[in-house]
Amino acid sequence: MPTDATLRSTQRGTLPPSPFPTEDPILGQIGGTPMLSYPGVDDGRLLCKMESANPTRSMKDRIAMGILTDALQEGDVDRVVEASSGNTAGAVALVSNRLGLPCTLTCPEGTSPHKIGYMKAFGAEVCTCPDVDSDHPEHYRAVAQRIAEDTGAFLVDQYHNQGNPGVHYRWTGPEIWAQAGAEMTHLVSAMGTGGLLSGSARFVQEKAEEVGREVTVVGVDAKDSNISTSFYGADPVPYDTSVEGLGKGGELPTMWFDYVDEMRDVPDGEAFRQARDAAQNHGFPIGPSAAAALSVARDIHAAQPDATIVMIVCDGGEQYFDTLFDV
Ligand SMILES: Cc1ncc(COP(=O)(O)O)c(C=O)c1O
Repeated sequence: MPTDATLRSTQRGTLPPSPFPTEDPILGQIGGTPMLSYPGVDDGRLLCKMESANPTRSMKDRIAMGILTDALQEGDVDRVVEASSGNTAGAVALVSNRLGLPCTLTCPEGTSPHKIGYMKAFGAEVCTCPDVDSDHPEHYRAVAQRIAEDTGAFLVDQYHNQGNPGVHYRWTGPEIWAQAGAEMTHLVSAMGTGGLLSGSARFVQEKAEEVGREVTVVGVDAKDSNISTSFYGADPVPYDTSVEGLGKGGELPTMWFDYVDEMRDVPDGEAFRQARDAAQNHGFPIGPSAAAALSVARDIHAAQPDATIVMIVCDGGEQYFDTLFDV
């Protein structure tokens, strides 16, 4: 018998409309992602918001779409620039391509060929920068800033742009609430810029308050990282994680801590172990940052069997198969 949660995955048509309507056949595939019951938990109380279903396989498609759509409505945009070694690069490249905007992406040396492939596949100009400290003028973020200043290009700036959490407040949060608002007790997600969790959490918390319910929002950080230490006002630890997208050196303006109730840390080894377990034992390939969130969600499920937990699958596992498995 399918559970309510598995049925929910088919109800794309009942989701709230996109705040960024488009007639473009590719851009129209962004958002409206399914919510599935995690196949490794039988009682249907661990639900996964599948952001891996977006065209470039991560939730960053939403911020690229939302931020660039708003920017075009607000004024002239002739060129797009962003600094990213991760999913944002591919997302910005795809959305720029469909909007007919030339795009330059800066990334550090050592960025995975898979990510550079995404950028080039969608016709972006890729500028590889030396792997230097963040205050160095040749750091990839400084280079992006300079290109924007010199050429008048629009800088997406996911680390500072309030449109990053703002897009998730307007888009991802309402979908999560429509799919699980009636029963969810917890929302769990990895944090990097914090945009995904902050914006989604704000919407969910506001809605829950309106109907007199409570949702506990749990942010997930890497163990050797300083989102948690900033959140709890503790001493910083040396930063060291190899889980892509997870963790940061400290608080960023895109982290809306007011809507986060607690932070939990996950060691890299545990994130990779959960990612392997999800794929090998449950046919559920997810990226290591989502697997870190899964580890936390499973702990909550074990401690509170009556809780209904929504965790966000930031991206799919396919692009990490070479590092997760002996291929
Ligand atoms: C794979 C992955 N997981 C998690 C995150 C964190 O998302 P956010 O930056 O919205 O906090 C990112 C962001 O870079 C990511 O690429």
